[in-house]
Amino acid sequence: MQDLKAFYTGMPKTELHMHIEGSLEPELMFELAARNNIKLPFATVEDVRKAYDFSNLQDFLDIYYQGMGVLITEQDFYDLTWAYLTKIHGQNVVHTEIFFDPQGHTDRGVSFETVITGISRALEEGLETYGISSRLIMCFLRHLSEDAAFATLEQALSHKDKITGVGLDSSEQGHPPSKFERVFAAAKEAGFLAVAHAGEEGPPDYVYEALDLLKIDRLDHGNRALEDDALVQRLITENMALTVCPLSNYHLAGVSDMRQHPLRKMLDLGLKATLNSDDPAYFGGYMNENFEAVVEPLGMTREHILALARNGIDASFTSVVQKQELQDQLSAYVADYDAA
Ligand code: ADE
Ligand code: ZN
Repeated sequence: MQDLKAFYTGMPKTELHMHIEGSLEPELMFELAARNNIKLPFATVEDVRKAYDFSNLQDFLDIYYQGMGVLITEQDFYDLTWAYLTKIHGQNVVHTEIFFDPQGHTDRGVSFETVITGISRALEEGLETYGISSRLIMCFLRHLSEDAAFATLEQALSHKDKITGVGLDSSEQGHPPSKFERVFAAAKEAGFLAVAHAGEEGPPDYVYEALDLLKIDRLDHGNRALEDDALVQRLITENMALTVCPLSNYHLAGVSDMRQHPLRKMLDLGLKATLNSDDPAYFGGYMNENFEAVVEPLGMTREHILALARNGIDASFTSVVQKQELQDQLSAYVADYDAA
């Protein structure tokens, strides 16, 4: 098992499902609160961590939206993104596709420009300094209205050079993908790729809607698709990638014991599953901690680990040429590892 840990720790990795606001560590939260004269309802970093005890998605989201309230200036968004990049550089992540939630900020009076400029500046530096390539995916908050999503899409149009795709996140139950069919059609028309959280808490029907109505290019979570054999077959046939987030599933009570996590089953069925951290500051870890959470409990082999890494590259939104480079880098890692 120690061998496998060394293997996935050193392995060059791709991350495809990570909310940048979910990478806000309590230490930085306090620093930004002090800088912006914001009073937090917590006295210490330990108190914050103690509050991270969620029984479902909404429990988490309430605290997540509260936490992001310390992000005010462009520098704050830069610092947040830079901290994430520094962390994942230490974990050998070489490519990352980051979600951001503009409505979580514009609704508090922080401009879309402030948010995207700060994040993008850090991502550019991440490429220069760490060699980490990246893509940005703008999520619509599904508990808000279709009109609000359209207004957000409108703001994104003047930053199309910085945004690769649109996504759908926040409270899933009661907010089916169908609510955003027209917004996603407009986003696709404008040239954005599309992803959506579906089947995290919501039923298999929401996954069908994400496929049929939103025309997604990648499925975020998708765990509950396993309840429907025909849907599983369809995901396999369509080569639809799933961005699976083990520690998130554990902390949001979708999975009470890691030995019951569906990740290995997904791979064994032939689904194109990938491994991701979702909200690493809230769920106890980044990429390597997510590997650690599943490898031993699920009895995963080196082949499973490599399948996750290769699927992550294949399912990314980068160019065909870069995907080949990343696959070659991974092959070289395996060869070096075995030679050592
Ligand atoms: N926003 C941030 N993390 C999320 C998650 N796991 N599900 C839905 N919305 C989110
Ligand atoms: Zn997510």
